[in-house]
Amino acid sequence: MIIGIPKEIMHDEARVAATPETVGKFVQDGFKVLVERHAGDGALYHDEDYVQAGAEIVDNPQEIYDRAEMILKVKEPLMNEALHKHEVDMMHKDQVLITFIHPASPVNHEMVKALSAKGVTAITLDGIPRISRAQNMDALTSMSTCAGYKGILMAANMLTTFVPQMFTAVGQIKPAKVMVIGVGVAGLQALATAKRLGAITYAADIRPMASENAMSLGAKVVDTTVPPELAIAEGGYANRLPADVLVQEQEALKATIQEMDIVFCSALIPGKIAPVIITEEMVKGMKKGSVIVDISIDQGGNCELTPKGGIETKYGVTLMGVKNIPGLLPTSSTWMFSNNLYNLVRYLVKDGKVVLDRSDEIIQKSLVCIDGQLVHQGAREAMGL
Ligand code: NAI
Repeated sequence: MIIGIPKEIMHDEARVAATPETVGKFVQDGFKVLVERHAGDGALYHDEDYVQAGAEIVDNPQEIYDRAEMILKVKEPLMNEALHKHEVDMMHKDQVLITFIHPASPVNHEMVKALSAKGVTAITLDGIPRISRAQNMDALTSMSTCAGYKGILMAANMLTTFVPQMFTAVGQIKPAKVMVIGVGVAGLQALATAKRLGAITYAADIRPMASENAMSLGAKVVDTTVPPELAIAEGGYANRLPADVLVQEQEALKATIQEMDIVFCSALIPGKIAPVIITEEMVKGMKKGSVIVDISIDQGGNCELTPKGGIETKYGVTLMGVKNIPGLLPTSSTWMFSNNLYNLVRYLVKDGKVVLDRSDEIIQKSLVCIDGQLVHQGAREAMGL
C-alpha cells in the first residue's frame, strides 16, 4: 500500500503527519511512503532523514494525491492557494484520508460533502473515542497534552513577575498563583507544568474525579458548588450546565480567580460550545498584569472577552486566545501525532488492505464518509440530515 504525506498548507502550520521514525516503521511493515519535499522542515524533520528511512521525496503534491492509496495529514483538506486547487479536488475515489476533519463544525460542511461526493473514505482523528484500547491512536489527547504544557509556558512568559518563590539578597519573592479551570487532559498537564515552574496551583472542575486528579498533582481544589448529579453525564463525561447553575459556578470561583496571576481555561463538554466561566465583570476585578490563557477558544472560549486567535489586554489583564498551540512545539507535537497515526494505520490495515469493521466503536465514531455516503453521526445532525 502507498501512503502519501503532503506538506500542510494551512498558514503557519509547522506540523507534519509522519516523522522519519514512523516512515521507517511503515516501510519495515511493507508500506511505500511518499513525502512531499520540505514537508517536515517546520518541525525539524528533514528530507534526507525521510529518505534514509525509506521514503520517496516528491515535489508535486498532486503526484502524491494521484499515487497514494492513503493520505495522512494533520489538518482538514483546504484550498491550496499555490496550485489554485482544493485538496479535496486532488483526491480520488476510494482513497483513504486520515486527519483532523471536525466534520460537525459548520465551516467544514461543504468540504465534508465534497469529500463524500468524491467517494473518499475519510477518517477523522477527533472522532477516536477516549477508550483504553484506542489510547495510543488518540491524537486529540496528545495535542491537548501539548496545549496544556505550552499554554502555561506562554502565560508565564507574559507575566512581569517570576513564577517560583525565590530567596534573594534583597528579600523573598512570593510564588505566582495559577488556577486551572477544567481539569481534563490539557488541564492536568497545565497543572503539572505550573507546579514544575514553582507556582502555587489551584483547580476547579465539575467532575469529582477530575478534582481528585488535580489534588494528586498538589493543586488546591476550589469548589464549583455544582452538584455531581448535574455535573456528570452518561459515560462519566461532564454535562452542559443549566444557565442558572453556571452563574452559581461563576460566583463560586470568582474570588479565587481574582487572586490569580495566571488562569488557564480548558473547560469543555465534548462536541459542545465551551461554558463561559469568566465574565467581563470578573475580568474587571482581576489583578493587573494577570494572564488568562483560554485554550477552549475553538469552541468559543471559557472567558467572555478572549480574542479568537489572538492576544489582547483588557482591564489590565492579558487575554490569550491563541489557536493551534500544539503547532508551537512542532517537533514534539509531530512526534506524538505521527505515532498516533502509525498506531491507527496499523490497526486499520490488515494484509495490505484497509478493513473497516463498522461495528467497532473506534471506526464507528471516526468514519466520516465511505462509498459516497456521509456516515458521521455528528456531522449529519449538524447538517440537519
Ligand atoms: P477534556 O474533555 O479532557 O477536559 C475538559 C474538562 O472540562 C473536563 O474535565 C470537564 O469535566 C471540564 N468541564 C466541563 N464543564 C465544566 C465547567 N462548567 N466547569 C469546570 N470544568 C468543566 O478536554 P481536553 O482534551 O483537556 O481539551 C480542553 C480544551 O482544550 C478543548 O476545548 C480543546 O479543544 C482545547 N484544545 C485547544 C488547543 C489549542 O491549540 N488552542 C489544543 C488542544 C486542545
